[in-house]
Amino acid sequence: FDEQDPVKLYVPHRRRLETVRDPRAPVGVFDSGVGGLTVAREIMRQIPEEHLVYFGDTARLPYGAKSRETIIRFSRQIVRFLRSKGVKAIVIACNTASSHALRTLAAESDIPVIGVIYAGALSAVKATKNGRVGVIGTSGTVSSDIYPHVIQNMNPEIQVFQKACPLFCPLVEEGLLHDSVTDEIASRYLQELKGKYIDTLVLGCTHYPLIRSTLRRIMGEEVTLVNPAYETALELKEILAREGLLNPGADAGDADCPEEKYQFYVSDLADNFRDFASSILPEEAKNTKKIEIEEY
Ligand code: DGL
Repeated sequence: FDEQDPVKLYVPHRRRLETVRDPRAPVGVFDSGVGGLTVAREIMRQIPEEHLVYFGDTARLPYGAKSRETIIRFSRQIVRFLRSKGVKAIVIACNTASSHALRTLAAESDIPVIGVIYAGALSAVKATKNGRVGVIGTSGTVSSDIYPHVIQNMNPEIQVFQKACPLFCPLVEEGLLHDSVTDEIASRYLQELKGKYIDTLVLGCTHYPLIRSTLRRIMGEEVTLVNPAYETALELKEILAREGLLNPGADAGDADCPEEKYQFYVSDLADNFRDFASSILPEEAKNTKKIEIEEY
């Protein structure tokens, strides 16, 4: 992780827009797989007028154990794919991809590109009272040290304690959301953080909000659990409003509304994705297609 002025690097993107300036254009959202649907779900809740094109890189996940170079290469291909769908802004819903690739993608882009780290860090800084914050995420996110850098740039007094929890993603993918195996593993992972007397815990991975109740039970009621997805959707709304890109919605004479409001694309196993997505989204993810991402 680059030391130079991380806060400046991770603030919402303010470049002049040159390409898609149509408020009715969709927002692109991407993740390594299904986890980013927790971010898509928040966007659907908070800005229901927006149309979304979601891409999940199901053929190449997990991102959490891959190198920065690989993540940047994959992310560039995904951005090219999303741009081919005419998106007006891009949300990197994946914490690992945000950690490694946001700065590069934002610098290369003429439309707003936002990640989830800044939003998660800001929520934690606002929430903590004792100045002791825990962060859990994939090995890639934790080893990038991005959360401590961004949090401490916002407030140098805050101490940040991190723990990589690589087994959580496969447990969620297996659907073991409320299972004794997940409880056991979570207890072991969180033991160390409990000993640090944190009062705030950032769920620094897309999958973790799905096991929130387990994390809540282990950490106790007094620890605030931060879901970066929530603040990311707010941040997206603010940026779209500032840029004049908020979708006015159907009431404003939406004659040429695209045929499907939410489109889902994956690089493998569209049926599995559709089932998982339909179980966590407010509506069925009927419109899921497999594409060849390597071609972009
Ligand atoms: N989406 C990833 C993240 O938020 C977790 C899954 C993976 O490792 O690909 O970090």
